[in-house]
Amino acid sequence: MKVLVVGTGGREHALALSLARDPAVTEVHAAPGNPGIGAVATVHDIDAMDGPAVASLATSIGADLVVVGPEAPLVAGVADAVRDAGIACFGPSRAAARLEGSKAFSKQVMADAGVPTAGSRTCTTPEEVAAALDAFGAPYVVKDDALAAGKGVVVTRDRDEAVAHAAGCERVVVEEFLDGPEFSLFVVCDGTAGRPLLPAQDFKRIFDGGRGPNTGGMGSYAPLDWLPDGVVATVMERVVAPTLAEMQHLGAPFVGCLYVGLALTAAGPQVIEFNVRFGDPDIQPVLALLESPLGVLLHAAARGDLASVAEPRFAEGAAVTVVMASAGYPEGSRSGDVVVGTETLDRESDVDVIHAGTARTDAGLVTAGGRVLAVRATGADVADARAKAYEGVASISFPGAQWRRDIAAEPLGVMEGAAALD
Ligand code: AMP
Ligand code: GLY
Repeated sequence: MKVLVVGTGGREHALALSLARDPAVTEVHAAPGNPGIGAVATVHDIDAMDGPAVASLATSIGADLVVVGPEAPLVAGVADAVRDAGIACFGPSRAAARLEGSKAFSKQVMADAGVPTAGSRTCTTPEEVAAALDAFGAPYVVKDDALAAGKGVVVTRDRDEAVAHAAGCERVVVEEFLDGPEFSLFVVCDGTAGRPLLPAQDFKRIFDGGRGPNTGGMGSYAPLDWLPDGVVATVMERVVAPTLAEMQHLGAPFVGCLYVGLALTAAGPQVIEFNVRFGDPDIQPVLALLESPLGVLLHAAARGDLASVAEPRFAEGAAVTVVMASAGYPEGSRSGDVVVGTETLDRESDVDVIHAGTARTDAGLVTAGGRVLAVRATGADVADARAKAYEGVASISFPGAQWRRDIAAEPLGVMEGAAALD
């Protein structure tokens, strides 16, 4: 099977590595890819946002499966263009991608499907915002309705800050605060059924202890030993099944990864958000532990035939990913800083360097984005994997590099939003 991965980040690098390990996958291609992906796949200089160009590349290389990684091309309808060309695609249609593209739509689907989630109001005027803030009380949760790469959300006890964030957005969702450890569940969906992968945890704030602004994610680990038995089954039954049924009812069946962001509250798991793709970096440790073939699984989902494959199987042990970000992240990012030390690590079997914002120039490997790369390691348990990941980080350097020292340090996940409120 020939597979084309669309996108250019750490998620796509991790996907390409796992696809390349699947004996059923004969060729891995990427558009546009990055220098890390180029080591395991044939890269093509095609804009991930250009549906017709992606579809025509997929046709010309004879792809059996296209996997669209990031949300922006999904929301723009790239998966529709691929399917219209008669090629199986793992990734939701533009209509189904609204589950991530619009927080208001996603809240409506959850309400209609009876999914446990925070109470919320969608507001377009300062008066509506003020009324909603008062109705829910502090801590305040204010979300930009539009796609914001994980940075459009403010959680604060400071009412003025909440009001100011809302004022900067056209349409906002004001929500009830969910209290409890946060985790991600990735569910591979074929339109009617879903198969859960391992739950993972993502450290979203830039600084240690859950301080500073939200980022796209600074590190992650799996599995979550502290998560009680039965939580995944509960999420599948109360969240995933009704959501898939509701999307079918709306004429927008969901094919792709339903990323369920949850808080484990006193009242059980409640949805914080839906995304319509694998989370990055949270999917990285999950893929490191996946033993069953990824290409076969995603192809079955894309064909609407998950019943034909066995449940995904995972290795014992744990995996940890630590992100190294560039100077200025998350407000901005500095490009062109020379990155050294990745080559030696690339040869170690239980440690990978996952590239995100890197570029190859005459000066060598340089930074080219906010999250530059991640060091991912597997080990006998979280502590072992964590030690190996940090050893890897210590051997890589670039000017202005930022990374958190406390990824996966706590056995029980802290609610980052709550930690930042103290
Ligand atoms: P989102 O983009 O919706 O994932 O929100 C970013 C982060 O804000 C989440 O990972 C949580 O840490 C926090 N957050 C979002 N919604 C809530 C909520 N209703 N209650 C508590 N924290 C939240
Ligand atoms: N790691 C968070 C995300 O992918 O949205």
